[in-house]
Amino acid sequence: MGQPMNVGVVGCGVIFAQYAQTIERLPELRLVAVADLDPDRAREAVRPYAGVEVLTVAGLMADPRIDVVLNLTIPAAHAEIALQAIAAGKDVYCEKPLAPTTDAAAGVLRAAAAAGVRVGCAPDTVLGTGTQTARKAIDDGLIGRPVAATATMMTPGHERWHPNPDFYYAPGGGPLMDMGPYYVTSLVTLLGPVRTVIGAASRTRAKRTIASGPRLGEEIPVTVDTYVTGVLVHESGVLSTLVMGFEGAATRAPNIEVHGERGSLVVPDPNYFDGPVRLAKVGEDEWETLPASAGHPGAGRGVGLADFATTPAGREPRAGGALAYHVLEIMESLLSSAHSGTALTITSMCERPEPVTAPAGA
Ligand SMILES: NC(=O)c1ccc[n+]([C@@H]2O[C@H](COP(=O)([O-])OP(=O)(O)OC[C@H]3O[C@@H](n4cnc5c(N)ncnc54)[C@H](O)[C@@H]3O)[C@@H](O)[C@H]2O)c1
Repeated sequence: MGQPMNVGVVGCGVIFAQYAQTIERLPELRLVAVADLDPDRAREAVRPYAGVEVLTVAGLMADPRIDVVLNLTIPAAHAEIALQAIAAGKDVYCEKPLAPTTDAAAGVLRAAAAAGVRVGCAPDTVLGTGTQTARKAIDDGLIGRPVAATATMMTPGHERWHPNPDFYYAPGGGPLMDMGPYYVTSLVTLLGPVRTVIGAASRTRAKRTIASGPRLGEEIPVTVDTYVTGVLVHESGVLSTLVMGFEGAATRAPNIEVHGERGSLVVPDPNYFDGPVRLAKVGEDEWETLPASAGHPGAGRGVGLADFATTPAGREPRAGGALAYHVLEIMESLLSSAHSGTALTITSMCERPEPVTAPAGA
């Protein structure tokens, strides 16, 4: 292996520690510097990591040591930070969604193409053993020809636990833009790109109340739909039904199920890297748990950045910008369809990302 890719992080909030822990143990990556609007937060975040510098955002962008900017800011700042990194001639890997709108995301991809730098984007959970084992089961024909899928995510809302949950209720947030990337990316990984969508959505409350941390009891405005449902018509003809809500106490529905002509598959929570994949075959009474047979075992957030670092020039990384854009267009179109009441055609296309084969000896 060559030199590790030098990483500069912008945004040192809640999710930062998960990335920092992954980067520390992956030889493909080295954390060099961080920046945040709140420098105290940045200093506190890197305390466990020796030798990591705290810079201003402008200082980080100008630092010639940094190869890739890892953008862990809130969704409203994703495009602005990505464009700064691209203007500085650096690759950028962004937390999801790539941008709050497809217009903004298209601007990022255009700028990157013109500058000759690359764009990657979360989620990378789909590169773990959960989604990848399910994908292999489908590709190996264990359920026959896939026909339909369901994807369900229901929680009371992130204001229950996040100390600064404002962004979850602002454009770029809501259950679809926040959690949808995991589910839609998993569905595209499992079943291929989407051609048409039809959606319906609702919003029950104008305000939410923060339930933890220093702002406990503070009310925040809700300007996005908090229950979104719809159907994705995949290019292959498979129909995926999506339910994403910040409106329910809990659900016992499987996160994702895929049904084929000869069997059904339960796919584990795409917000995590692993979990049991279960198969029921037509004519058999019992569910069988499949052994993990593909994907990165024991992975954490950042494994997609390592994949990005090792993808040869000219090839699209698995957690790449084209996939993230396709997923964003699907989600934005679902919301537009919910308001217009008509089915919408998805104009972007992306390849199904390369599978992650099991490491030798696994
Ligand atoms: N919290 C989670 O469990 C979680 C899980 C997966 C993904 N994510 C994603 O990670 C991203 C960050 O989420 P979070 O929970 O860490 O948010 P957060 O609010 O805790 O942290 C975001 C940080 O970015 C900084 N920031 C915002 N705008 C900036 C700018 N223009 N320049 C420099 N710094 C800026 C803020 O000061 C803050 O410290 C979001 O896109 C979110 O969807 C979060």
